[in-house]
Amino acid sequence: MHLTDEERRMLAGEEGEAVRLSMQILTRLGDAYGAERLTPVSSVHAGCAYPNMSVAVEMMERFAALGGRFRVLPTVNPVMTPGNFDRFPDCREPEELKKAATRQINAILEMGAIPSWSCTPYMQGNLPRAGECVVWVESSAIVFANSVLGARSNRNTIPVDIAAAIAGRAPEDGLLLDENRAGDALVRLEFMPESMFNYNTLGFIIGKKCAGKIPVIEGLPRWTTANQLKVMGAAAATKGGIALYHAVGITPEALTREQAFRGRTPEFESVIQERDMRAGIEDLNTHKGGRIDAVLVGCPHPSVSEIGELAGLLKGKTIREDTRFCLFASADAIALARQMGFVKIMEDSGVRLFEGGCILTHPIRAWGWKNVATNSGKYACTLPSDPYYLNVLYTDTRGCVEAATAR
Ligand code: F3S
Repeated sequence: MHLTDEERRMLAGEEGEAVRLSMQILTRLGDAYGAERLTPVSSVHAGCAYPNMSVAVEMMERFAALGGRFRVLPTVNPVMTPGNFDRFPDCREPEELKKAATRQINAILEMGAIPSWSCTPYMQGNLPRAGECVVWVESSAIVFANSVLGARSNRNTIPVDIAAAIAGRAPEDGLLLDENRAGDALVRLEFMPESMFNYNTLGFIIGKKCAGKIPVIEGLPRWTTANQLKVMGAAAATKGGIALYHAVGITPEALTREQAFRGRTPEFESVIQERDMRAGIEDLNTHKGGRIDAVLVGCPHPSVSEIGELAGLLKGKTIREDTRFCLFASADAIALARQMGFVKIMEDSGVRLFEGGCILTHPIRAWGWKNVATNSGKYACTLPSDPYYLNVLYTDTRGCVEAATAR
């Protein structure tokens, strides 16, 4: 791998042990992937390990103890923050888990992270322009960065993002390179998606049909919103490991089908019709009856308009005492929702707000939940499998409210 003189000095430890260790990680990774050089990165979105992943917690503490300081200030993914400990009397977190979560938060803040605790960093000012190379962790954010913003990120892991934030560089490989961003599968829509629920389901189907590929989607309406693309990408990334898609006429590298494929012929073509959507909803619905223990809304973190829609549906209703209704959202979206009166409506109904949180960082298996409802394609993909094993009622936001309020 070719290194500049400055990078050689960094690797030799002239800028301290944390920089040396970061460079060692990045150059070994680059060698493994055949990268020719490192490239400067302008933005990092860092992951926080689920706090029981003690190796990752220790790794962050080690970087901090070695004097690691971020030269690219990272936003940070949701984590179990102290404000979200023990939110329900019968659903508490073990003391050692809370300690590990707190240790992790302290270490990453000591190195200079922005405490954004959200999976939508592009809504918190971490907004790279088209063509910028970034190191993001969090599959839903990566697919948004690559596809909707036209920025360039690989699917990274936690040590790599921390190392990249300290060194300000990443191996130039994979999706950072032009030649690896061409579409390789064509997906034609023969129906018109309208609701957020449609886009969640569509993402799941695209992920299933095009796992590991770069789909080129034809037929999305030109008024498709960023929020709709957000939920579609999140489900596609979870179901099929999609890190980049092109939507013809909508995303920046796909003004035309030809531009999206960059002269390549699609490996295959797939059509999605209404009936595929119905089958997708059935696939995601693993709830076979029985009381809903919890309703989980806010994956990926919602905009204030999505929160407003939820508040409108909840107004004047009361959540049943035996159902926990959890909303996950960033601090700034909640602050705006509070000013607009949405938070009061939701709290009066009995909703619990998990500011900067995500249910996947909590020990839900130990809480004995069996059935949950969600409007999120990503949660519906994730929660039935290891280590959660939950049955999921996959429904739209109105269905989630009905599941929690029906007597
Ligand atoms: Fe965000 Fe958690 Fe969903 S990190 S995308 S709310 S799984």
